[in-house]
Amino acid sequence: MPLLEVDNLHVQLQTQRGPAEAVRGIGFTLERGETMGIVGESGCGKSITVQSLMGLLPASAKVTGSIRFDGSELVGLPERAMCEIRGNRIGMIFQEPMTALNPVHTIARQVGEPLRLHRGLSNADARKDALALLERVGIPDAASRLDAYPHQFSGGQRQRIGIAMALACGPDLLIADEPTTALDVTIQKQILELIQSLVAERGMALILISHDLGVIAQNVSKMLVMYGGSVVESGPTAAVFAERAHPYTQGLFAARPALGAPRGLKLATIKGSVPELVDLPVGCPFAGRCRFTIDDCHTTRPPATQMPHNHQVRCIRLEEVAAQEAGA
Ligand SMILES: Nc1ncnc2c1ncn2[C@@H]1O[C@H](COP(=O)(O)OP(=O)(O)OP(=O)(O)O)[C@@H](O)[C@H]1O
Ligand SMILES: [Mg+2]
Repeated sequence: MPLLEVDNLHVQLQTQRGPAEAVRGIGFTLERGETMGIVGESGCGKSITVQSLMGLLPASAKVTGSIRFDGSELVGLPERAMCEIRGNRIGMIFQEPMTALNPVHTIARQVGEPLRLHRGLSNADARKDALALLERVGIPDAASRLDAYPHQFSGGQRQRIGIAMALACGPDLLIADEPTTALDVTIQKQILELIQSLVAERGMALILISHDLGVIAQNVSKMLVMYGGSVVESGPTAAVFAERAHPYTQGLFAARPALGAPRGLKLATIKGSVPELVDLPVGCPFAGRCRFTIDDCHTTRPPATQMPHNHQVRCIRLEEVAAQEAGA
């Protein structure tokens, strides 16, 4: 049984212009210890997807479909039961570390909190474990800084503290949503290396969201390319990088910052922009921006085409796209 099985997941949000679907029938599975990346332009639904796994969506959001985590269905789970899973079986690292940290609590208290809450540890034991975690994530001189507050640390150190919190209960799944974009370049690399070594050491599964194709290439074994709330291409990272079968994936690669450009830079945009949710077409979400568009693209949601190496692409123009690539 896979650790995580997402099937036909839909998330409807209330927007200023009425209800709209931010996630439109996505599915994937993740085995224990497996690593998966999610890539796509701003607004394509990456964060909403992982927030639905964590039960962190706005209260007005409507979720349908299935999210099976270690055999249990999470869709429709009452908040109390979701609390048992969040921060315990599933840990999350946020883009901006202060999202997870509370400015008025010491770091010993915050990192120890999930251990008291989920594992029933005493204050003294939680403090001891918090120290070990903070040392493991590389907080210098952690023993003498346990009673310091988040603002007394640098951005990179705060992200390390956020990672220690996410790991406190030994989760089976770690979710990292753009964990390094708020940090400067040299620190980004260190944080990603830390995440990578912790994932390997603890055998956790990882879902890593990034705008940066280089980060995806180096950190995950499989990937989803998302656009307009849909997965347009998915498969082993090596296969997706080699084939780039979907015109949107090709656009992402073409828009990639030149080698040597700062990591985490937002992708240079593909021509046109991501439509607002309520304006997304009923057919292929990329139809309005894609140079291969024909009438059918506007009316029918493309089915998944199976490619070699367990690689899937949702596009009805694959032959034309491939012919163009070969001729280019
Ligand atoms: N609370 C909300 N209420 C209404 N719409 C929302 C809400 N949160 C996000 N959205 C919309 O849902 C869509 C998907 O948002 P999401 O945050 O998942 O994008 P993303 O892929 O994570 O983008 P980014 O790369 O900028 O983080 C966007 O159109 C966004 O405007
Ligand atoms: Mg996001």
